[in-house]
Amino acid sequence: MGTILIVYSSRKNETKGIAELIAEGVRQSGHQVQIKTAKQVETAEDLAGFDAYIFGSPTYHGEMLSSMKQFLFMAEHAQLEGKPGGAFGAYGWDGQANRRIFDTMTYIFKMKMASGPLMIKASWVEDGVDTAQAYGKEIAEMI
Ligand SMILES: Cc1cc2nc3c(=O)[nH]c(=O)nc-3n(C[C@H](O)[C@H](O)[C@H](O)COP(=O)(O)O)c2cc1C
Repeated sequence: MGTILIVYSSRKNETKGIAELIAEGVRQSGHQVQIKTAKQVETAEDLAGFDAYIFGSPTYHGEMLSSMKQFLFMAEHAQLEGKPGGAFGAYGWDGQANRRIFDTMTYIFKMKMASGPLMIKASWVEDGVDTAQAYGKEIAEMI
């Protein structure tokens, strides 16, 4: 059994809701999961010892939240190369943050990424529960 770490930022808790659904999918796959906010992860050492990583932020004004940006600068020093990963975030119409996080994990951290970022706008959209849980399962199966 592995343990997956989900780290997210959220202003209005939509991204938090998606994080919790992804976590359910991980648990359904028989793996453990921890969920933390970006501010709760203070040092690169806090990222050590997990089998996969899923990072998420909503999009505001075309960008991820600043707490997620700060987190990603810190995570650059966490030696995540080759680890399974995924990205997500609530959004209104474009979801640029999801792709930016996914690209950072791919090109800077050199992680082994899922098929793409999870692109559901919120936990309550049609098929949102199934799609988010399936994303958690997909990454769990990469462990
Ligand atoms: C001021 C403002 C700016 C926003 N800018 C974008 C944007 O550029 N692109 C987008 O897809 N969604 C945008 N949104 C929609 C948010 O991403 C959406 O409300 C999301 O559910 C917020 O997630 P959170 O509850 O995790 O903070 C914006 C929302 C607000 C209030």
